[in-house]
Amino acid sequence: MAVKNALTAPKGVPDYVPPASRTFVAVRDRLVAAADRAGYSPIELPIFEDTALFTRGVGESTDVVSKEMYTFADRGDRSVTLRPEGTAGVMRAVIEHGLDRGSLPVKLVYSGPFFRYERPQAGRYRQLQQVGIEAIGSDDPALDAEVIAVGHEAFRSVGLTGYRLELTSLGDSGDRPAYREKLQAFLADLPLDEATRQRAALNPLRVLDDKRPEVQAMLVDAPLMLDHLSVESGEHFREVLAILDRLAVPYVINPRMVRGLDYYTRTTFEFVHPGLGAQSGMGGGGRYDGLMAELGGQALSGIGFGLGVDRTVLAAKAEGLTVGDEARCEVYGVPMGAAASRELAVIAGQLRSAGIRVDRAYGGRGLKAAMKSADASGARVALVLGDRDLEQGTIMVKDLLSGDQQPVALMDVGAAVAQILLR
Ligand code: HAM
Repeated sequence: MAVKNALTAPKGVPDYVPPASRTFVAVRDRLVAAADRAGYSPIELPIFEDTALFTRGVGESTDVVSKEMYTFADRGDRSVTLRPEGTAGVMRAVIEHGLDRGSLPVKLVYSGPFFRYERPQAGRYRQLQQVGIEAIGSDDPALDAEVIAVGHEAFRSVGLTGYRLELTSLGDSGDRPAYREKLQAFLADLPLDEATRQRAALNPLRVLDDKRPEVQAMLVDAPLMLDHLSVESGEHFREVLAILDRLAVPYVINPRMVRGLDYYTRTTFEFVHPGLGAQSGMGGGGRYDGLMAELGGQALSGIGFGLGVDRTVLAAKAEGLTVGDEARCEVYGVPMGAAASRELAVIAGQLRSAGIRVDRAYGGRGLKAAMKSADASGARVALVLGDRDLEQGTIMVKDLLSGDQQPVALMDVGAAVAQILLR
């Protein structure tokens, strides 16, 4: 018989299998819990949307939209795109369901997969997972500080300490044109190659993000947005910093920060972890004051972030943290014989109904192999039941930590288990 090649996952997508999947889920849940503590409600949105949502919302000059989207025609010949990020979809849903007509700000949290056709490398995947929040409908600088502090608390709750929070202000739609002109004039005098010139014409800010050292050397004296803020934008930014100071959230100002998405205005930030190598961005976000109007809604401002779950897991590993390593179950059942197997199914069901986490051996395995599985499961208690015990109406209850074991009447097994678990 011909041997078939085993299939593998598509290039650049991570699998999380046990036991590492426990870490992934624990990290994701802690990031979500930080938002829950600040009053954000969950929102669940489609994985694919009309392509126009992202071209309009994220911006055609961005790499994300111009090079990285998974776009295809569905069977009805509509152009749809696997979501590359979450903010545009949230805005679409807020407008569509009129959430912005209730009390403001609307505060939402989401988590799930996003898709970007990037060149895969360590920490850069084509399917990535984010936990994100969006707060829509308030200009209050205290809201900016809240969003940033929730991100900081989220990473802290995972146990991380070795990251840095970088902040800047990108100004508002009033501040931008004059600065843009100034930067364009500065760039026009530089001996840039044609492709870079074209980028400068489309979005000069993006040139500041050029990674080539020879280009960076030319940009040393480039004008910076932070030095060209209007009075209002400057005051807003200073107030955000003042609140973060009071909250003792440490940050550094990075006036050269360039985000990969076009919608950002005013407060903009990134969480950077040096332990992650080249893909050091662990999370990022900012204000997007024009986005809702751009997508056909009212002119409400918003602010939010996306935290990369994959990279947070890698950062935890880099810091030597163990997250989510709690045992798979508390009780492990070992039946010896067919009648015992049936009885154990009932006992396991009853214990699970009582909220106890129970796993068991299957398939008539030998006692030694089954006890090995009991140890490997991390359970505290093993229940060993033979057909002969069954005839006598007893079950062997073993404390796997102390090694003590004793026969217990079948009807008392719940109490005996509970007693050990509470020890
Ligand atoms: P972003 O900076 O493009 O922002 O992505 C947020 C985070 O997602 C990054 O900091 C990174 O940790 C993770 N990430 C992005 N691309 C990849 C990848 N290819 N592989 C692994 N992780 C990745 C946004 O997406 C905005 N929607 C965030 C936001 C919400 N801004 C305002 N509200």
